[in-house]
Amino acid sequence: MELFDVYPLYDITPVKGEGCYVFDENGKKYLDLYGGHAVISIGHSYPAYVNAIQNQVSRLGFYSNSIKNPLQKELAHKLEKVSGVKDYSLFLCSSGAEANENALKVASFETGKDRIIYFENAFHGRTSGVVAITDNENIKAPFNLGHKATKLAYNDTEALQSEIEKGDVAAVIFEVIQGVGGLDEATTEFYRSAAELCKENQVMLIVDEVQSGYGRTGDFFAFQKHGIRPDIITMAKGMGNGFPIGGILIDENIKPKYGMLGTTFGGNHLACAAGISVLDIIQKENLMENAVEVSEYVKTEAARIPEIKKIKGRGLMIGLEFEFEIAALRKELLFEHQIFTGASSNKKLLRILPPLNIKKEHFKIFFAALKQVLKEQNHKVLKLS
Ligand SMILES: Cc1ncc(COP(=O)(O)O)c(C=O)c1O
Repeated sequence: MELFDVYPLYDITPVKGEGCYVFDENGKKYLDLYGGHAVISIGHSYPAYVNAIQNQVSRLGFYSNSIKNPLQKELAHKLEKVSGVKDYSLFLCSSGAEANENALKVASFETGKDRIIYFENAFHGRTSGVVAITDNENIKAPFNLGHKATKLAYNDTEALQSEIEKGDVAAVIFEVIQGVGGLDEATTEFYRSAAELCKENQVMLIVDEVQSGYGRTGDFFAFQKHGIRPDIITMAKGMGNGFPIGGILIDENIKPKYGMLGTTFGGNHLACAAGISVLDIIQKENLMENAVEVSEYVKTEAARIPEIKKIKGRGLMIGLEFEFEIAALRKELLFEHQIFTGASSNKKLLRILPPLNIKKEHFKIFFAALKQVLKEQNHKVLKLS
């Protein structure tokens, strides 16, 4: 049987990971500045995390959500402690799209309304409701187009106000720092106005922290810097360091009802063991502090490179914007220097999403390689002209 061929693949086969590195089947070592799409939070194969999963699966890997599972409560308790967000309750699921899908559902149940406001360049996932509120028409099937969804320019408070005041909006959703869209952010003023408008009009504010959450920006959640309180927070990627786990935090004023949400796999024993271990390690290794420290170094060094026109993002969610499209540059970094980086819908933006335990030394390797590739590219351009 062949695989359903939807992913363009690099000709690389990683078989092992350790810290900030992955290794292919021939033992070739790659520096991971991409974290498998912002998923690797605590680093590859962290021993205590591996042990936690091994120990759990050897006892009980899975049972359904119809029995008591104290690991879910332990995860919720730790999440509150490490994140610092209070008075929310936790619903566990298995992916970012599922988290957002459930958030939309809660918002619609709570308000009795059905229209969702989203923003230009947003990416919220690929399932039915969330792809409808993702700014990419190419990934929407006719079936996905039936939802009531309105796209607005990011940072346009007036447009948001006039849409919200129409009275049929269930939720406003945004990524505080856009991931796939290219690291754009709105202003603190916009986030605060959006939160106020939502509150005044009984609209749910959903903040998508699937990519930016779990310490990646140096805060546990990216919204925390702006002093807002979302009604619903969604998360996934860094939550399991590769183990599929997602979740939503729901303001305690929103009351649950049996059957309102549900899942077979969400919150299973093995996922919880992975999730608890990730939180322990984020705390023990001071990974949020590390993200801030290393980020400052990266931004300072990047500012010295004339080809980099703009530095975007926060913590270890960084975008380096060049004057030219970066596809060739990424390939050179990967195949000539064994460094994984990311792309985005902004074709000039190199996306850096490393494991949060990365050190300055790793970025020294990156900057040396980047300078060399840029030098060679400049030579080629000079020769051609
Ligand atoms: C901000 C954001 N939300 C949601 C998703 C969807 O997550 P998943 O691919 O786990 O469904 C992604 C994935 O890249 C994302 O970046």
